[in-house]
Amino acid sequence: MQDFDLVIRGGTVVTAADSACADVGVRDGKIVAIGLELDPGRREIDATGLRVMPGGIDSHVHLAQPAFGGPAMADGFESGTRSAIAGGNTTVIPFALQSRGMSLRQAVTDYHAEAEGRAYCDYGFHLILTDPTPAVLGQELPALVAGGYTSLKVFMTYDDMVLNDRELLEVFDAAGEQGALVMVHCEGYDAIRFMTEKLEKAGKLAPYYHAVSRPQSVEREAAHRAISHAELTGVPIMIVHVSGREAMEQIRWAQNRGLKIMGETCTQYVSLTADDLKGLNMDDTGSKYVCSPPPRDRESWDAIWNGIQTGVFQTFSSDHCPFYFEGEMGKKNPKARTGFRWVPNGIPGVAVRMPILWSEGVVKGRITENQFVALTSTNHARIYGLTTKGSIAPGYDADIVLWDPDRRVTISQSLMHHGSDYTPWEGYEVTGWPQATILRGEVVMQDGEILGSKQGGRFLPRALSPMAARGASAPLG
Ligand code: URP
Ligand code: ZN
Ligand code: ZN
Repeated sequence: MQDFDLVIRGGTVVTAADSACADVGVRDGKIVAIGLELDPGRREIDATGLRVMPGGIDSHVHLAQPAFGGPAMADGFESGTRSAIAGGNTTVIPFALQSRGMSLRQAVTDYHAEAEGRAYCDYGFHLILTDPTPAVLGQELPALVAGGYTSLKVFMTYDDMVLNDRELLEVFDAAGEQGALVMVHCEGYDAIRFMTEKLEKAGKLAPYYHAVSRPQSVEREAAHRAISHAELTGVPIMIVHVSGREAMEQIRWAQNRGLKIMGETCTQYVSLTADDLKGLNMDDTGSKYVCSPPPRDRESWDAIWNGIQTGVFQTFSSDHCPFYFEGEMGKKNPKARTGFRWVPNGIPGVAVRMPILWSEGVVKGRITENQFVALTSTNHARIYGLTTKGSIAPGYDADIVLWDPDRRVTISQSLMHHGSDYTPWEGYEVTGWPQATILRGEVVMQDGEILGSKQGGRFLPRALSPMAARGASAPLG
């Protein structure tokens, strides 16, 4: 007789590879058996009619990160990870942001202090490099990569973060030496500044003009430049939050040439459009949707789906970057009302990523449920070096979402469990919703009720990504 702490019985186990009716046996937080008619466990969950899938891994979330110009984020680790488990996730990878002049190690220490004892799910950290001095690249980065911070993000825009081409090349090269994966925010700084100043001179200040100030050509140009730098240095990169056809086609072009370029897209690029930034009448409700790159149009949704279906994109993330709407620190704070340039960029979305992808993707026949698992969990684990996460197989952490494939839900603020005072998807209807989230064998969310504790999440040092190795084989399909 086998000894199980938990048996999840009678569901359909879905992995990135296949789907099968089977029971899942869990002991000491690990999956230890998958099979038919497993022996009884100390706890049993009836999963009849449910999909039993790897817990979501959202590899692109921002928590406790200050915005440029001051506004505090609406989510620290407590509310951000609570929202994550409400949406079926068991792991998030937020960022440790190095401010200019600051040591990278200090940034990591500070973010650990933010996270410690406040996380409902497991977490790692990507680094954000804004000041790639020789000491940062030559000493701090190698030590941090060896300590499990195996990916880093760089920006091609934003006053406080932008790196010039020489700096990008230096970072790519240093990351390549260490085998760390570089994530690139591709939008061209000078083009955005040029457009912003022209729009401001013309009195075009409403939130919608945020989208006009950074059209697809700005993203396409930056994506092409990042790809060229990756080629020159021989380093694989991940182009994050791709919003439409033009940047997507750059990635496809690079992949077809055999370059190791990966792509990420996000919920907002298949469900929101730039018209949402108009608000009711070019008013500041549009600021609820201000994020970068901005959502585009319905033709872009089709292009993004095409990129998902054909393997241009490996990961589907939220880019959860939550701000308040109301108040002195909100998106319509007094300074933000003077022009779109001052509206904090980012929207909250960690809780809706999986439901919207299931609803728009699986239910509408655009992707299979196995692709859904790859895009929301397995590929994130493989690409970012989470060796015990992202699958349902003996030896893996028992991080599981029990998914009701048919449940119809109207998204509302009350379901989000996040810190923001709004959701951009208020009133959006989905089919498919997480019924329970299980973190290392413990039920941490059931029927929308948070059962886990903010001491429940653990820091995850990550392995080097096989996909980040110089000369790695072609990207994941
Ligand atoms: O608007 C967004 N997404 N802000 C978050 C920062 C980033 O670039 O990912
Ligand atoms: Zn970014
Ligand atoms: Zn982001």
